[in-house]
Amino acid sequence: MSHSLRMHTYFTDDPVEAAEFISNDKLAVFPTETVYGLGGNALSVAAVESIYEAKGRPSSNPLIVHVGAIADLSRVVKEITPSARAFMEAFFPGPITLVLPRHSSLPKVVSGGLDTVAVRMPSLPIALQLLRSVGLPVAAPSANISGRPSATTWQSAAEDLDGRVSCILRGPKAIVGLESTVVDCTGRSPILLRPGAISLDALSAVVPDTSTDAPDISRSPGLRHHHYAPSAHICIIPSPDEAIPGDQTGYIGLAPPHADDQFKQCVVAHHVEDYSHKLFEFFRDCDRSGVTTIYCQSLVETGLAYALMDRIRRAAKAAK
Ligand code: TXA
Ligand code: MG
Repeated sequence: MSHSLRMHTYFTDDPVEAAEFISNDKLAVFPTETVYGLGGNALSVAAVESIYEAKGRPSSNPLIVHVGAIADLSRVVKEITPSARAFMEAFFPGPITLVLPRHSSLPKVVSGGLDTVAVRMPSLPIALQLLRSVGLPVAAPSANISGRPSATTWQSAAEDLDGRVSCILRGPKAIVGLESTVVDCTGRSPILLRPGAISLDALSAVVPDTSTDAPDISRSPGLRHHHYAPSAHICIIPSPDEAIPGDQTGYIGLAPPHADDQFKQCVVAHHVEDYSHKLFEFFRDCDRSGVTTIYCQSLVETGLAYALMDRIRRAAKAAK
């Protein structure tokens, strides 16, 4: 990681102020309904390069381009394919990202040199205000240092990026808590590349031949990279009975542990939405308090639980 990056970070509650930084090719962290994003002008090579640098992210892992209006896609994508059009009508703005053929005027560096580009229109009002105020496409990966769990609060984004970005827009805790559903819409039938709050069933209800098959690595470069990982070791367990309590262990799940089982960090979520909403902040709380083993209760993988278990499995694999 470069140490020449240390800069003053300006904190604000005003999306128009944050937008000014992006318009001037500076970086601003902003909230969305999924997770916080680290935004820069997608049409500026220098701004996009500084995103990779601020995150410590390999430039082969492409970024998502965010827009506040469909018209802003004109310099981003070469075409909106029929399946993408259908998903946009059903789910924009919302927690979904569509991969489309890249427009030749969009800097290649945005999508790691690929001839495709991922696009998304978030639904959180303050995010839309920022994007509409910028009026340009905004490249934004999740606002975390590469390899760490995504940030779902501005404080967690600041923990990773204070001093590495020009501005942090303080907004609400991310409602969904997991990154957007990513769907490749470049081929004859859409392919789910990353599960999220918009489930395969919901996608299939709009375009019936949507599938999850062959998530081959060249299509989804993000799958090559480690993700979402706290420092602690992660154990996936069906029931809290298998979690070993202690002052260096954490538990998260829907079922409550025994009353006399004490964990350093413990989250008993009310339902799968709540579990997803709290997962990444729980991982960060575990890191902050020195937890070395985290127990995550597994759920039956339907709907949102499929996305949740995907993130937990990746974290379990990547954990150091
Ligand atoms: O919810 C989200 O999507 C958040 C918020 C900020 O919008 N953003 C986010 O960005 O999660 P990031 O960079 O952390 O994840 C982007 C994912 C990566 O897995 C990346 O490989 C994939 O999208 N992706 C981006 N462009 C792609 C492309 N052209 N083809 C295939 N996958 C792509
Ligand atoms: Mg990310």
